[in-house]
Amino acid sequence: MAEIPAIEPTWSEEDPEPLVPGHAQRLEELKGLGEAEYFTYLKGSRYLAGARDLRVLQEIHTAFLGRANSHVARMMIGLPRLPVEERKIRGRAINLVKKWLAEVHEARRRALEAAAESSLAADATEPGQQRPWVGHRHVLAQVRDELLDLFHGLGYSVYVSREVELDAYNFTRLNFPPDHPARDAHDTYFVEGADGVVLRTHTSPGWVRAMEERKPPLRLVFPGRTFRAEQVDASHMDQFHQIDGLYVARNVSMADLKSTLNTFARAIYGGHTRTRLVPVFFPFVEPGCQMDVSCAICNGTGRLGESGERRCPVCKGSGWSELLGAGMVHPNVFRAVGYDPEEVTGFAFGMGLERIAMARYSIPEIRLFLENDVRFLTQF
Ligand code: DAH
Repeated sequence: MAEIPAIEPTWSEEDPEPLVPGHAQRLEELKGLGEAEYFTYLKGSRYLAGARDLRVLQEIHTAFLGRANSHVARMMIGLPRLPVEERKIRGRAINLVKKWLAEVHEARRRALEAAAESSLAADATEPGQQRPWVGHRHVLAQVRDELLDLFHGLGYSVYVSREVELDAYNFTRLNFPPDHPARDAHDTYFVEGADGVVLRTHTSPGWVRAMEERKPPLRLVFPGRTFRAEQVDASHMDQFHQIDGLYVARNVSMADLKSTLNTFARAIYGGHTRTRLVPVFFPFVEPGCQMDVSCAICNGTGRLGESGERRCPVCKGSGWSELLGAGMVHPNVFRAVGYDPEEVTGFAFGMGLERIAMARYSIPEIRLFLENDVRFLTQF
């Protein structure tokens, strides 16, 4: 026969009464049922109550309640051969021992776990622990990534283009006439001593580079930083961010442009958003337009207040806010990159990230984006 599990000298005993009120009555009850049951419960419950940690507790549990060779398992060995009446009494007694030991075990386990937890709790007298500074992406990077993700879902890949650009890409091949006002030093940063080199004023030059490198069809987005020699104020900075998009293939139409931009606008502003296209001139598209979305603040009504007594300050009462520029790629741009405008057509669109982020989070000041004040940055 297998060995009776040892009682380890390292185990210590403790009165289980505080853990399981009613313990004394249980002992009384068992005394009347059988000696072996009484002593097994007496010892087992005292050792369990005295277990100093979870590992020892588990050891004691195995010795008393384990399936094989435990004290309880041993008591059951002769059981089937006993006369019916006695078997009933002993069986009931053994079941009580099992149940009650399990209760002491559970109570002790909880107490040990609670103690372990509270020993981890703050001790106000201890010296402070240095918490590592956990950073996160800038609010503009978050908005950019959200938009890129959306366009990714529509089949667009990202094309990264340069910030220091040639005049030829920023203007000429985008069909800007030589005397266009954007080419003036009042609007554009020219790189000193490098003829024809500018800081890009928009992300549209990316299209020219992409089309020169690749054959149609193309479906690309162009995120990045752009620069203009602006007078800085609450809504103008001399650097900001844009995302352009370009889709070139056979038979691309204005209807495709419209459905793509509607999908996009409703994904960022919600399914109820209304849109409209308003004709606007840009040299690199024909026709060109701007897309407006119904103002999210006044829900397109232009009015605020219970009976509409106040003019909406965000859309200035118009009910619309301008979201982006767009249009059908101008045939001259296709010619400049060696595409045949009789073969392919395409649409393009471009938007400012700061404007979208400012509208989304009611940010009143464009300069906040670059000041790196953590009180601002941690809000997003
Ligand atoms: N590049 C223009 C700007 O910076 C915006 C723009 C308008 C982009 C029309 C486009 C477009 O792609 O089709 O003001």
